[in-house]
Amino acid sequence: MNASELLYQGKAKSAYLTDDPDLLVLKFRDDTSAFDGEIIEHLSQKGAINNQFNAFIMTLLTKAGIQTHFLERLSSTDSLVKRLDMIPVECVVRNKAAGSLVRRLGIEEGYDFKPPLFELFLKNDTLHDPMISEHHVAAFGWASREEMSQMRDLSLQSNTVLRRIFDEVNLELVDFKLEFGRFNGEIVLGDEFSPDGCRLWDKTTGKKMDKDRFREKLGGVLEAYCEVAERLGIVFDR
Ligand code: TMP
Repeated sequence: MNASELLYQGKAKSAYLTDDPDLLVLKFRDDTSAFDGEIIEHLSQKGAINNQFNAFIMTLLTKAGIQTHFLERLSSTDSLVKRLDMIPVECVVRNKAAGSLVRRLGIEEGYDFKPPLFELFLKNDTLHDPMISEHHVAAFGWASREEMSQMRDLSLQSNTVLRRIFDEVNLELVDFKLEFGRFNGEIVLGDEFSPDGCRLWDKTTGKKMDKDRFREKLGGVLEAYCEVAERLGIVFDR
């Protein structure tokens, strides 16, 4: 599949048109951003690591019955995906309190949510991804009530699958963000799942193994991503 014209350049990935109007090539770049693009750095190999991490997770989710845009990995950094009509809403599932929730509500980091907490944010860097509710999604027409309810169910189902996978390798899935779109009228999981968009803590030591290492300038960002991948049995093609 030939990637041709650049369709869209995000903070960490670029999407290219292909000969087939229904398909895109996603290129995972080494750019790493935090705080809605305020800080962007180049981390060598990150694109390849996240592309292969994402391929592994999307394949798992597909096997669990969750429809995703992922079709196949084309190279170390590129994957072929279905072209979705993206919904500009970020779906966040939290198993434990961390990040913006701790700052917003003053809750203790690590507080356990039973059942998991589901939150929505508008995908808008200029506005710093403000928190919204399902009512905003309906009122602004970003998605219908039925679509929103499917996105919520799919996010929580993904949590059940992924939490177990990470638990088996002694990692706590603290929280994560998913983005959905439409393909032939159906809600399909898009974007990516990688340590850039989730929080993972080692269950024994509490060590942060995700993008918080970059946000909090803890160092060892890629080493942590690689360790998570190795624990999951992902073998990298560099
Ligand atoms: P938060 O604590 O900053 O709200 O983020 C919750 C989780 O969602 C965390 O794993 C990071 C991820 N996330 C992104 O990757 N991008 C985003 O724009 C947002 C709002 C969250």
